[in-house]
Amino acid sequence: MHHFDLDLTVDFDHRTLQGSVEHHLEESDRPEAILHTRDLRIDSVEIEEPRGWRAATHRLDATDDVQGEILHVEIPEGATRLRITYRTSPQAPGLQWLEPPQTAGGTFPFVYSQGQSIHNRSWIPCFDDPARRITFSAVLRVPAGLRAVMAAEDQSVEAEARQGVYRYRMPQPIPSYLVAMAVGDLAFEPLGPRTGVWTEPCMLARAAAELSDTEKMVEAVERMFGEYRWGRYDVIVLPPSFPLGGMENPRLTFATPTILAGDKSLVALIAHELAHSWSGNLVTNETWNDFWLNEGFTVYLERRIQEELYGRARSEMEAMIGRSRLEDTLEELGPESRDTWLELDLGDRHPDDSMTDVPYEKGYLLLRLMEESFGRERFDRFLRAYFDAHAFETMTTARFIDYLRKELFTQDPAAAARIDLEAWIHGPGIPDTAPRAQSDAFERGEEAAEAFVATGALPEGTSKWNPLQWIHFLRRLPRGLDRDRLEALDASFSLTDTGNAEILCEWLRLGISSDYSPAYDRADDFLHRVGRRKFVQPLFEELVKTDTGRERAERIYSTARPTYHSMTSNTIDQILAN
Ligand code: BES
Ligand code: ZN
Repeated sequence: MHHFDLDLTVDFDHRTLQGSVEHHLEESDRPEAILHTRDLRIDSVEIEEPRGWRAATHRLDATDDVQGEILHVEIPEGATRLRITYRTSPQAPGLQWLEPPQTAGGTFPFVYSQGQSIHNRSWIPCFDDPARRITFSAVLRVPAGLRAVMAAEDQSVEAEARQGVYRYRMPQPIPSYLVAMAVGDLAFEPLGPRTGVWTEPCMLARAAAELSDTEKMVEAVERMFGEYRWGRYDVIVLPPSFPLGGMENPRLTFATPTILAGDKSLVALIAHELAHSWSGNLVTNETWNDFWLNEGFTVYLERRIQEELYGRARSEMEAMIGRSRLEDTLEELGPESRDTWLELDLGDRHPDDSMTDVPYEKGYLLLRLMEESFGRERFDRFLRAYFDAHAFETMTTARFIDYLRKELFTQDPAAAARIDLEAWIHGPGIPDTAPRAQSDAFERGEEAAEAFVATGALPEGTSKWNPLQWIHFLRRLPRGLDRDRLEALDASFSLTDTGNAEILCEWLRLGISSDYSPAYDRADDFLHRVGRRKFVQPLFEELVKTDTGRERAERIYSTARPTYHSMTSNTIDQILAN
């Protein structure tokens, strides 16, 4: 099965997708095809033979918490296609259904999918494993007046689209986790010749302004790492319950509206998702244990893009914040935890558990160490060749190590000797040889933070601070500061009212830890509007540290939970259960 044709009707009243998928069969599917499913109501399983379609012999395994239900279908000689007719569950973890009040416009419902890591099986019965690639075509039938988009090439015909019928195809082979769709009241604005943004009409102008550097970003990566191979690069800015910052769906990055800070200060996220068009979507981690090959490479590319567009000072600040998050993560996991190796060992755990900062930031540090050891020119040539040589293929950690030794390490044995690959990939923590990012502005911010903690002196020169400096400054302040201190900071800098979600999240954590009451109301409001796990999780973690905080958390969660995506609510359920 390397190609499927999907035909689904979107039913907002019942919160289901209903229709069929037809898989084109191959020799390797005989005598039995295996597909992943989760929570589907399967109405029929049929195969096409030269004489026509007929019911297939099949069996559905019992539910496995992590894997869902595996479908086995007998495939006789001569069968060409396999058709499954089905309906999704309203609770499908790969979909989020939103009521109109959960959207920016407030008038129309919305639904979108989130496949990574193994959620797409809850809306498409498919071989849902990154080791295999597929192409597809899709028809989405939606209520007239709404727009369907997919992370694929638009083939819709206008007359049909007016009736709510949208057609897409994905000609490049991709892993199943990259199949994605969204339906809602969506409008489009071009950003450049091959870039543009989709979002609800009332957000379009803001989104287009924030993302106006997107075309330049694509050009920058192309200059460094080779041609963009996916045709268009568009971004869809989703409603605020989207559980992630961003998702690198091909041709169409899915993004949280919390990047719309008004000053482009959070567009590193777009650089990141765009970079996945090379690392991840072109060369894909073969298993979820190899996740760092997707994310570590992508963070490295992301910072190179940021450097090209906004200068070294900015990319260094971003690297320093990344390092500080990594150090926090290592502290939580324990510095010796197996989850701090680059090559993971998930065992029977859910692959989403691999989403710590380790594959991202430790992976970044290793690639940066290579860049610094071999020189940027040589390392760029190596990376570009790596993407070309493995385009539209998968990669394992072991095969990457072989390729690296052969193609880069042999070129400069002295440089290679400085990199203890085993320690990085099959060892815990951060090796001593890790590069250090450098920022004078951050050093001054650290001094300001120390002075503020010691004497209450407010930081000076802040009118020239960028949002990253604020984030760094706040991250340097200890939990449980004196309430008066926070009040003074807030009075001078209006932190409780900031429109920058990253600054707000750091500030609210601090405020909650110091029992600073304005922080509670603001957190209450924020947690009811935003479902991005990166923000929601630390705020709940901070709240449950005290008895009154826990009560507050439970009260907030009782009304906020129904608005969260399952990725977020699964995490918060665990925090409140402990
Ligand atoms: N591919 C990830 C999102 C993901 C990871 C989904 C694991 C499911 C499981 C995406 O590229 C990502 O890393 N997003 C980050 C933002 C990025 C700027 C670090 C996020 O959502 O926070
Ligand atoms: Zn990523």
